[in-house]
Amino acid sequence: MPATAASRPLAVVTGPTAGIGREFAERLAARGHDLLLVSRDAARLHEVADALAAAHGVRAEVAAHDLTDPAEVEALAAALAARPRVDVLVNNAGFGTLGTLARTDPARQAAMIQLHCATPLRLAQAVLPGMTARAAGLIVNVCSVAAFLTGPGNATYSGTKAFLRLATDGLSAELQGTGVRVQALCPGFTRTEFHDRMGFAPTNIPRPLWMSVAAVVDASLRAADRGGPVTVIPGLRYKVLVAGWRLLPLRIASFLTRQGPRVRA
Ligand SMILES: NC(=O)c1ccc[n+]([C@@H]2O[C@H](COP(=O)([O-])OP(=O)(O)OC[C@H]3O[C@@H](n4cnc5c(N)ncnc54)[C@H](OP(=O)(O)O)[C@@H]3O)[C@@H](O)[C@H]2O)c1
Repeated sequence: MPATAASRPLAVVTGPTAGIGREFAERLAARGHDLLLVSRDAARLHEVADALAAAHGVRAEVAAHDLTDPAEVEALAAALAARPRVDVLVNNAGFGTLGTLARTDPARQAAMIQLHCATPLRLAQAVLPGMTARAAGLIVNVCSVAAFLTGPGNATYSGTKAFLRLATDGLSAELQGTGVRVQALCPGFTRTEFHDRMGFAPTNIPRPLWMSVAAVVDASLRAADRGGPVTVIPGLRYKVLVAGWRLLPLRIASFLTRQGPRVRA
């Protein structure tokens, strides 16, 4: 029996106007989810919403918010908490910067910490009471392979993604037995607008290290459908890289980090 408007689940996706978030929105709409799409660019949000509603016969709403602004995050959290149901939350909005901590704009670094750390947890807090009451729901926090390893120019970015990954692990422990699942999705280099937006042309990244948004979102949804694991690293090469890195003694890992490429510094 086809889902009716009243029975369709609702997915909230942050950062759906490009890249990984756009792919999540598309896949979730194809699975019959209504959408609430959240980012800054209202015109682009409407374009994506209209295209997905037409292609998949679902309802797609938009909410334009700058999720680096705590007041806007509070407004969105209140709106989510007031919804009768939110079935899926994808905390995906994010950005990178070029330059060392000492040389980058402090306001941009603070904004990154808000967007990658405080915002996803606040939005999760807003939807969790409803999810636990219904004993169902999925929260995907988009982290990065940079949650495991870092390098020059990546100090804040890696720090924020490591925070979100560990917070997601902790949250999954808190949610045991509730029927609500959480995932820390940790992609490696993925072809999106991310690097262009930060003014970085990563020409020296070997081709095999690049992944498509389709492969990243496939890995996420496949893992979620199977009921786990919490930490999802798309692609065998990145799984091997992270597993190998985690075996290193901390002193060796720090030594290797210091030798890392200075391309983003
Ligand atoms: N691409 C990679 O290689 C890679 C690797 C690992 C992890 N990631 C992570 O994956 C996530 C998605 O990145 P992507 O590669 O898909 O990047 P992208 O193509 O640049 O898309 C970023 C999305 O985030 C939204 N966004 C950015 N700043 C925002 C803000 N202040 N408030 C609300 N929305 C905001 C943008 O929408 P608006 O412009 O409309 O606001 C856009 O929809 C990020 O968390 C990123 O850290 C990316």
